[in-house]
Amino acid sequence: MISTRFTLHSLVTEAHKTIQPYLSEQSISIDATMGNGHDTLFLAKHSHKVYAFDIQAKALDATRIRLQKSNALDKVSLIHAGHETMQQCIKPDEKADAILFNLGYLPHADSAIITQEKNTITALNHALKLLSEKGIISILSYPGHTGGESEMQAIMHWYEQLDSSQFAISIIHSMHEKINSPRLFTLQRS
Ligand SMILES: C[S@@+](CC[C@H](N)C(=O)[O-])C[C@H]1O[C@@H](n2cnc3c(N)ncnc32)[C@H](O)[C@@H]1O
Repeated sequence: MISTRFTLHSLVTEAHKTIQPYLSEQSISIDATMGNGHDTLFLAKHSHKVYAFDIQAKALDATRIRLQKSNALDKVSLIHAGHETMQQCIKPDEKADAILFNLGYLPHADSAIITQEKNTITALNHALKLLSEKGIISILSYPGHTGGESEMQAIMHWYEQLDSSQFAISIIHSMHEKINSPRLFTLQRS
C-alpha cells in the first residue's frame, strides 16, 4: 500500500517525529548516512544503541564531536564504511527498530561525493533483513542534485518490487514543495 501526506515541518523534523514512537530505551537503530551527525544524535537520544555509517572520515569526526558534546558517544558505533556493508557490521541476532537514510551529499563539503543509487538499493535490501517486526525505515531523498532524481526513481522502483501485502510505504511531501524538493519515504511491515 502506498499513502501520501503533506507536512508543514521540515522533512528532517518530520522524519524524526515519525520515527520517535518506534524507539525505546531497548532499541537498536541504524543511521545509514551519518553526515554531520544530527540524525545520529537524534537516534542516540531515543535508543539503547546506534550503528552509524559514512564513507567520509570528516563525517565521523563531525559526528564524534557532536555526540561527545551531548554525552552520547558511548551509545554509538561510528563505522567508516558504506551502508551497503550494513549486514556485515551488525550482529546477526540484532534487529533495528529504526533505520534512517538521509541521502545526497555532506553539507559544507564536496558535493560530488553523493550516495549512489546502486549502493542505496543494496543497503535498503540489507535494511529489510535487519528491521525488527514493528520497525520503520525512513528515507529522505533529494532529487535536486545530479543523480538525485534517478536515485529517487530507483527507490520507488525498489518499493514496487516488494510484496505489497507485506510492506506499506508513505510518501511525505512538504506543504511548501517546489519542483525538485526533497521527499520523505517511510516503510513499515503491514
Ligand atoms: C545528507 S548527508 C547526511 C546528513 C546526516 N544524516 C546529518 O544528520 O547530518 C549524506 C551523507 O551520506 C554519505 N554517504 C555517501 N555514500 C554513502 C554510503 N555508501 N554509505 C554511507 N554513507 C554514505 C555522505 O558522505 C554524506 O555524509
